[in-house]
Amino acid sequence: MTATVIDGKAFAAKVREKVAGHVDRLKQDHGITPGLAVVLVGEDPASQVYVRSKGKMTVEVGMASFEHRLDANTSEADLLALIDQLNSDASVHGILVQLPLPDHLDSDLVINSIDPAKDVDGFHISNVGLLGTGQKSMVPCTPLGCLMMLRGHHGSLSGMNAVVIGRSNIVGKPMAQLLLGESCTVTMAHSRTKDLPGVVRQADIVVAAVGRPQMVPGDWIKPGATVIDVGINRIDKPEGGTRLVGDVDYDSCAAVAAAITPVPGGVGPMTIACLLANTVTACCRANG
Ligand code: GUN
Repeated sequence: MTATVIDGKAFAAKVREKVAGHVDRLKQDHGITPGLAVVLVGEDPASQVYVRSKGKMTVEVGMASFEHRLDANTSEADLLALIDQLNSDASVHGILVQLPLPDHLDSDLVINSIDPAKDVDGFHISNVGLLGTGQKSMVPCTPLGCLMMLRGHHGSLSGMNAVVIGRSNIVGKPMAQLLLGESCTVTMAHSRTKDLPGVVRQADIVVAAVGRPQMVPGDWIKPGATVIDVGINRIDKPEGGTRLVGDVDYDSCAAVAAAITPVPGGVGPMTIACLLANTVTACCRANG
C-alpha cells in the first residue's frame, strides 16, 4: 500500500481563505478589524521565524498584526504590564506569547495573565479546563489543525483507536482531549510506555508529537492506519547540509499507512491557519 498524502498546505490555504472571508464581513458589516498581538521575548532564531511568519499571514488575511519584540532581559513585571495593556486594548482580539520564554520568566504565570477570551493559543488554565470538560474553549492551534485534517480525510472518527505519542501540554494532551471529543478510544503513549511498538500497532490513527527525528518506523504502523506527524526536526544530510524530517520515518510509514501527513507541508501550515481562525473566533465572541 502507498499512503495518500494529506496535504496540509492545501488544507491550510482553504482555512485561510475562509478566515479572510470572515474578516471581510466583520470589516464590511460591523466595521471591526480582528487584531492579533504576538509577543516575542529574546532572539531565539526558530521563534523569530515563527513570529515573522505569523505576522505576515495575519496581514495577508486582512487582520491587524501587532508585534511586540522585547529584549531577552525583559523583567517579568514589564512583560506582565504589556499583557495587561493588551488585555484591555479593544483593537486586540488575540494575544500570543511565543514560547519558550527565557529561563528567568515563569511561563505559567505569564500565560495565565492573558485574558482567557484572548488566549488564541488555548494555553490558559481556564481554556485547558474547558477543553478537558468538553466545554466551549480556545483550542490549541496544532492539535486543532491535526483534528481538522483528520476530520477532512475521514469524516467521522467515532470508535477509532487513536494513539497519541507525546504528552506535552501544547500538543499531546489537548490532542488526546480532542480525539476523545470525537469519540475515539484514545491511548496516550510516552517515553515510559511499555511495548510502544505494540501499542502503536493497535492504532487506526497515530499522532506523533515527541520531537525525536524519525522515531516511529513503518513496522510499528497497522496497515491502513492514518499517520499524523507533528514533528519538525532538522537533521544533517549524509551529503552535507540539512533537511527537515518529522517524528515518523516517512518512507517506511507511507508504505504501510493508508494516509500520512508529510514534513514539511503537513501539520506545520495548519498551525498558523488555526491561529488565524482562533483570532477571528475570539473577535466574534468579543463582539457578541
Ligand atoms: N512555540 C512552539 N509552538 C508554539 C505555539 O503553538 N504557541 C506559542 N505561543 N509558542 C510556541
